[in-house]
Amino acid sequence: MRDAFVATGIEEADPVLTNSRRADLADYQANGGIGIAKRQRVAPRILAQSVVENLAIEDIACEVNVAGPGFINIRLSNDFLWRKLSDAISLERTDHPDVVVIDYSSPNLAKEMHVGHLRSTVIGDAMARIFEALGHKVVRQNHVGDWGTPFGQLVAQIREVSPELANAEDPKLRDLRVLVEHYRTGSEKYAGDKTFADAAREAVVQLQRGEPKTRALWRQVREASLESMRDLYRRLDIRLTDDDIRGESSYHDDLPSIIEALRSQGLATESDGALCVFPEGFKGKDGSPLPMLLQKSDGGYLYHTTDLAAVRYRTSGLGGNRLLYFTDARQIQHFEMLFAVSRLAGLAPDGCSLEHHPFGSVTDKQGRPFKSRTGYAVPLSELLDEAESRTRRVIAPKRRDLGATEAEHVIRTVAVGAIKYALLSKNLGQNYVFDWDAMLSLEGNTAPYLLYACSRIRSVLARAGMDVEGARKLSAGLWAWTGQERALALELLRCQETLDQVATDVRPHFLCNYLYELTSKFMRFYEHCPILGSSSDVRNGRLKLAANAAQTLESGLGCLGISTVPRM
Ligand code: ARG
Repeated sequence: MRDAFVATGIEEADPVLTNSRRADLADYQANGGIGIAKRQRVAPRILAQSVVENLAIEDIACEVNVAGPGFINIRLSNDFLWRKLSDAISLERTDHPDVVVIDYSSPNLAKEMHVGHLRSTVIGDAMARIFEALGHKVVRQNHVGDWGTPFGQLVAQIREVSPELANAEDPKLRDLRVLVEHYRTGSEKYAGDKTFADAAREAVVQLQRGEPKTRALWRQVREASLESMRDLYRRLDIRLTDDDIRGESSYHDDLPSIIEALRSQGLATESDGALCVFPEGFKGKDGSPLPMLLQKSDGGYLYHTTDLAAVRYRTSGLGGNRLLYFTDARQIQHFEMLFAVSRLAGLAPDGCSLEHHPFGSVTDKQGRPFKSRTGYAVPLSELLDEAESRTRRVIAPKRRDLGATEAEHVIRTVAVGAIKYALLSKNLGQNYVFDWDAMLSLEGNTAPYLLYACSRIRSVLARAGMDVEGARKLSAGLWAWTGQERALALELLRCQETLDQVATDVRPHFLCNYLYELTSKFMRFYEHCPILGSSSDVRNGRLKLAANAAQTLESGLGCLGISTVPRM
């Protein structure tokens, strides 16, 4: 298309090729000529006509014409669609792989993971899989909070109420619930009790200085938190392993050199005994320059400082040229300042893209933070239990024929898929309203609907004695395609461009929308086009279309971190 514009004498034109909104008239439409014609003061229809004359796409299109004020409408030929399908649509891996470092999940330890960690964990994991599917190199980073104030609060509380625990290897220290209780009491006291707050701060200093008893206690508490985190990742099928953990503590020894680098470049300034940077353009509420704090007067380092060291490690150490961060919107300013200072200090080269992808919070239907009856954020383990029992109620009555083991597997897969899909299918920036009924519905843009469609296709193929791979290799002659068949085939061809868009914009909901659209087109095809009862050419062709739909759906869901089940 672009070449045809050039051949018409228009250099550097964007043809603005889009899916046609009128499927009855065309598959694709190019609107780019209209603006150009206006600028060049020629009649848009005449310009479009010249472009069409220079368009050499006979091998893929059966109809090209000028419509309306000067659109170019294109109808792809059945033959071309068929050839494309016969190549068994597969993803093209990029020739220019990026090294994408993805910071996600990254919970603060000493607490239980809760619903607030879900979006980062699920979205980050999906994006990691998508970049990998497109052939990029992905490095996952679980930047766990294992070094700061929360640990001080926990340690101080343990010392105060159970001093015997503080000096021992005690199984109670491996029980996260016990620890969480201590942490909660500790953090509440921290706010109002000055002596306690001093003790907590002192514990952080001891920890960071390497005082052996504090370190030993820290190690036990950290391990207990990690164990429960690993368990949740297993249940949620999240691809984060111990090798991806690079917590705040691991940067501790790099911090003096970060301070030194900023000092030597004249970027760090002392202010009230603390060391700060004042990046340009950041102002406090009163309009005065806003500092990014690097080191407190007692020598303690801050969240920012560690993140500067992490930027350096991810660019220089890991060779990342795209650094992605998934956290909620409360950290927008933190990342803006972090990126500004990283650029100033040369920690991230110009060619490296620094991206914070913030999301809104998880709320209930009334728009309040999603909390449990106890008033705390809902722990993820409880949320998963509830998802499973709700899914059981939806699925069990429908499928009494599944054996107990298979039924449990289906329930777990659908429950996790439903939670993940619900979070992924919403626009990243908005708050997410947690609604069990909506996410478990068998109709609409939900995981159960898509998983059900996959199992439908598998069962049709099974009745024909085939699996997906076998059916994709079928050869079939051409026949007069119905509208539903064309619509499905065309949608199948859009998978690649969708994934490319998702990777560029970091918007996983584009992929969800695509998979939903594909499923709807499959369902329409399935209703209108008999498969097994048709003559052999048509039957093979339809089986092949169905198998391609299953393959695309399953790999698309796989990119989102969602597994499918053969029967549900
Ligand atoms: N631990 C932080 C929290 O729970 C998130 C860390 C995000 N990553 C980072 N490099 N700052 O809020």
